[in-house]
Amino acid sequence: MDKPVDIVQFKLGMRSLAHAVSIVTAAQGGHRYGMAATAVCSATAEPPTVLVCLNRTSATHGGVTRSKAFCVNVLRAEDSDLCNLFSGAQAGDGRFKSREWSKLATGSPVLLDALVSFDCQVIKKMVHGSHTIFLGQVEQVLFGKKGRPLLYAEGQYSKLASMAHGEPLPEGLDYWGF
Ligand SMILES: Cc1cc2nc3c(=O)[nH]c(=O)nc-3n(C[C@H](O)[C@H](O)[C@H](O)COP(=O)(O)O)c2cc1C
Repeated sequence: MDKPVDIVQFKLGMRSLAHAVSIVTAAQGGHRYGMAATAVCSATAEPPTVLVCLNRTSATHGGVTRSKAFCVNVLRAEDSDLCNLFSGAQAGDGRFKSREWSKLATGSPVLLDALVSFDCQVIKKMVHGSHTIFLGQVEQVLFGKKGRPLLYAEGQYSKLASMAHGEPLPEGLDYWGF
């Protein structure tokens, strides 16, 4: 097999991929875990499943592995400071101090004013290199506070100027069918 592409080139290319930012959480043995993550997407709609890719060195990876559950909390445009906390500015349970958190079916921490939270039970996982790819069956969906999503691209946070003036897809082409 050919040599894989240079890692720096790969990372540089990936900077162009705009993503919504979420906080993936877990709870286990009286501890709460949570980290900012962009490697999050819908895997299948039938059944409702979510995919997250977590670095194996992260504390949250350990929490998700042991609890066999996680919650994806999709951040609002105003939440860049929270994202900084959950990506290294603060460590451990202190990350959860600044906001209101609750829990749903799996017990994983749920950010009450996230755009939406997907509470998931891990049904499959695959270790691949630096990360584990977790597939979570969605047990509950909590719609939090309406707003615009926090985006991340080219090494910076971004937000949509408006949700109202986007370019609509032609009739029948919207992926989610709404
Ligand atoms: C915008 C952004 C997106 C990130 N996305 C991911 C991701 O998808 N997967 C991952 O493993 N780490 C991701 N990280 C890095 C983790 O948030 C960071 O390593 C975190 O401190 C891990 O926390 P923990 O070790 O306490 O679990 C991201 C960081 C930022 C700032």
